[in-house]
Parts: sequence; C-alpha cells; structure tokens
Amino acid sequence: MRRDRAHPPIRHYIRAVTSPSPLPDPRVRPTVTPGSGGLVDRHGRTATDLRVSLTDRCNLRCTYCMPPEGLQWLPKVEQLTDDEVVRLVRIGVEHLGIREVRFTGGEPLLRPGLPGIVAATTALRPRPEVSLTTNAIGLSRMAPALAAAGLDRINVSLDTLDRERFKQITHRDRLPDVLAGMAAARDAGLTPVKVNAVLMRGINEDDAVPLLEYCLEHGYELRFIEQMPLDAHHAWTRGEMVTAEDILARLTATHTLTPDVEERGAAPAERWLVDDTGLTVGVIASVTRSFCGACDRTRLTADGQIRNCLFAREESDLRTALRSGADDAELADRWRIATLSKLPGHGIDDPSFLQPSRPMSAIGG
Ligand code: 5AD
Ligand code: SF4
Repeated sequence: MRRDRAHPPIRHYIRAVTSPSPLPDPRVRPTVTPGSGGLVDRHGRTATDLRVSLTDRCNLRCTYCMPPEGLQWLPKVEQLTDDEVVRLVRIGVEHLGIREVRFTGGEPLLRPGLPGIVAATTALRPRPEVSLTTNAIGLSRMAPALAAAGLDRINVSLDTLDRERFKQITHRDRLPDVLAGMAAARDAGLTPVKVNAVLMRGINEDDAVPLLEYCLEHGYELRFIEQMPLDAHHAWTRGEMVTAEDILARLTATHTLTPDVEERGAAPAERWLVDDTGLTVGVIASVTRSFCGACDRTRLTADGQIRNCLFAREESDLRTALRSGADDAELADRWRIATLSKLPGHGIDDPSFLQPSRPMSAIGG
C-alpha cells in the first residue's frame, strides 16, 4: 500500500458522519473474507461502479486540471497493457460485483486499443453498463467504432460555447471538433450524451445559460460539476469556487426549474426539469453537498493502482501483484482489502484537508 500522509484527524470523520447524507452503521462487515463478497467498506457502502483511467495524457490543458506545459506522463512500462486492463475489469465484474464500467483518462480516446477494450468489456457476463468520459476531440471519427464495440453512453466535458474562451480555458483551439464529436456520438446512438461543465469565477460563469440552451436544443443532458481541488498546480480555493447555489441562481433567472422526482440513488447529480421541455439539467455539488455517504465507486488508474476514492491518499498496487503472477482470486482479495479502508467523506471543507498528490488526469474522473 502506498501512503502519502497519515489519515486526517478524527474531526474529519465526525464532520462526514453528520453530513446531510448519513452513512450506514459502521459496524457492517469490518473485515474481508478471502475469496468471497463484493467491494464493501467499513461504512457499509458497496462499490459497483468502476472508473478506469486508460491514460494520464490529454490533448487539452483545462486550467482546472493541467498546467499548459502538460505533466510528467507515466512511462509506458508502468501503464497497464490492454490485456491487463481487461483482466482487471473482468475480475471486477466476475468476482466483485462491478455492474458499471466507465473509461476515463486523461483523454481515453488517445488510447489506441480503446475499441478493443470496450468490446472485451461489453462481452463480459453479467454484462456491465459501459460508458466513456471524453473531451470529444476525435470522437467524430471514433464514435461509430465505439458504438459497434457495444459502448452504451458518452459523457463529454465542455465548459463554454465561445471559441476564444474555449481556447483560454483549454489552451487549444478545438471547440469545433468537440461540438462535432458530440453530434457524432448522438448520431451513433451513444445516448444520452451527457455534457459535464465546470464553471469558474470570472472566467465562464456566464456560459451557464448558453450551455443549457445549447444542450436543450441538441438533446444533450447537461450537468454542472462544482470545481474540486484536483488541479495539478493546487490553485483551487474554496472562496473562488462557483457553487451549486450560484449556478442555480443563474439558471432560474431565465428558466423554470422543477426538481426531478426520479430517485437519485448513488447518482451524484441533483436534477431539475427545465421549463416544459421534459429535459433535465443536473448539478453535481461535489463540494457543497457531498454525496460520499451514497458513493458506489472504485477506481483503477492507468498504472494499475486501486483508489477507493478520488481524494484517497493511499493506493493499492495491483499491477505489481498481477505482473508477479497473482491469480484472479488473489487480485480480487487485494481489491477487497483496498476497499475496506475507504474514508467516510472527502473532507474538502475541513481545515486539515490535503489534496491528493495525483491530479484528476492521473486518477480518472
Ligand atoms: N473539478 C471538477 N470537475 C473536474 N473535471 C476535471 N477536473 C475537475 C475538477 N478539478 C471534470 C472534467 C470531466 C470530468 C472527468 O471531470 O470536466 O468532465
Ligand atoms: Fe484533459 Fe479532461 Fe484534464 Fe481537460 S479535464 S485537461 S480534457 S483530462
């Protein structure tokens, strides 16, 4: 197990267990029984949704994620091969109760073997739901092959509809490619196409309504995500963050939002029906209304580490075990053990909060 720093102090736990989504009884399943069970933690949550980062590289440089010069990329030998990725995903599905698999990055379309990885994943039984989070550059070319491989859905990151502003936020002039990629995903049946937008104070707050109207017009499902402290250059501050409340105030100035009564479950987005369109907009208030108590995620990084939380300060190294000849049962047990220690909450609002040492692009969103 890699450990960056000690666990946060006890008040971190107290804050998390008294947060708006209370956690189940902490006495549930305190240990792992080798060879059996799913991915259960000490707080009674079960992870069934696997996020797999396929590369830490990206062709954009979104300011809330990467510095303009990029980062020190993982050496190729440290990256899992396509076969290794598929083996770990299979263990997740066949031994550990994973029901949903989302491929992420960095930018997963940069991984040459992506269609093959998706096809191998959709061939697993029980068949998981398979989706992809992408910046959509190159998607207009790739969407048909991904649909043929069985991909179910796509999430696209898009923070503005203004070409100059897009260039300013991402350091690349690629807005037309992104819009074309989204349309191609919809035409290939990778629906619903969800759009993730991060608003930043003084930069793109006024894109909230144009983004909503664009998504309504094209049949995309828009979700705003509160910016989290996951940038490589540690520039995030709580005071500068555009909150869910700020976002809703902007949207309701021009549109009527009615809470969507559909059960939210472990889904992080709170959703509203917009006007009388029958379409929804979501807000993922990861910071101000955290949903850690209902979290059902587990993460595999491109270099084969299990992270039980985006904000985890420890990782569990499956790659070394896998390359040393561990069988499926042993890898499954290592994954179960890695899950047990999942903390009850991210504690972003706690003064003792420490940002994870890896940025979002190296963890997988
Ligand atoms: N805070 C919130 N969302 C982020 N994303 C990337 N970095 C951050 C951050 N610091 C989003 C991207 C992408 C998804 C994987 O996460 O916009 O849609
Ligand atoms: Fe690339 Fe996504 Fe990071 Fe933007 S947020 S730089 S698209 S990995």
